[in-house]
Amino acid sequence: MRKLIAGNWKMNGLGADGLALARDLAKRAGRAPLAAELLICPPATLLAAAGEAIAGSGILLGGQDCHTRQHGAHTGDISAAMLRDAGCSYVILGHSERRTDHHESDALVCAKVKAAREAGLVAILCLGETAGERDAGRTLEIVSRQLAGSLPEGLGAAELVIAYEPIWAIGTGRTALPADVAGVHAHLRAALKGKVAAPSEVRLLYGGSVKPANARELLGLANVDGALVGGASLNAADFWAIAEAAA
Ligand code: PGA
Repeated sequence: MRKLIAGNWKMNGLGADGLALARDLAKRAGRAPLAAELLICPPATLLAAAGEAIAGSGILLGGQDCHTRQHGAHTGDISAAMLRDAGCSYVILGHSERRTDHHESDALVCAKVKAAREAGLVAILCLGETAGERDAGRTLEIVSRQLAGSLPEGLGAAELVIAYEPIWAIGTGRTALPADVAGVHAHLRAALKGKVAAPSEVRLLYGGSVKPANARELLGLANVDGALVGGASLNAADFWAIAEAAA
């Protein structure tokens, strides 16, 4: 399975910086094609410019969220159809920052995954437990519940990516132990049976303080088919080094 390295820029990047980052990555991709698939998810304001900068490089473009509807009176929102129109092929959905900041429920995330599929986007569905839930030994219960509630029925493996992101590891510099990541990913793989066609072909990403220094070990684990990278994706050299570790 070809690994996916996805960069989640979050609410970062003004025109010049964002463009320089996208161009830098495109230049690297032109020099040395990667074994892994590379995806950048810039803020909506930079999609068009970043898309132009990476055109022809093989790097893919994604959004960070979408509405459940494709158009209409929803001030401030962006639809999956609009993301597709802007050149995206992926969209991150159910990220813990949206679940927390915008009180997104599993049911809402499920409706967004459906909207993404309708528009022809691959959904990167994010799951993960809080520090308290982890300390209480509830990690598997929490991710199972999130998966059951936010994954619509009938998706094919090519329409879906799952990202396991322990909330306590996001942006903190703390990474989950490899054995724990492997355990959760094995659990997710098994939990996908009966929920999607060809569950063994769904890519399962790990996210949470992925850096060049820990990427090779994490990406070498069974059932880890890529990474969702936040902070380190804002630096072209770091993001590239993570992508190279996915060989
Ligand atoms: P981080 O973010 O790599 O900065 O921890 C990961 C994410 O939130 O997707």
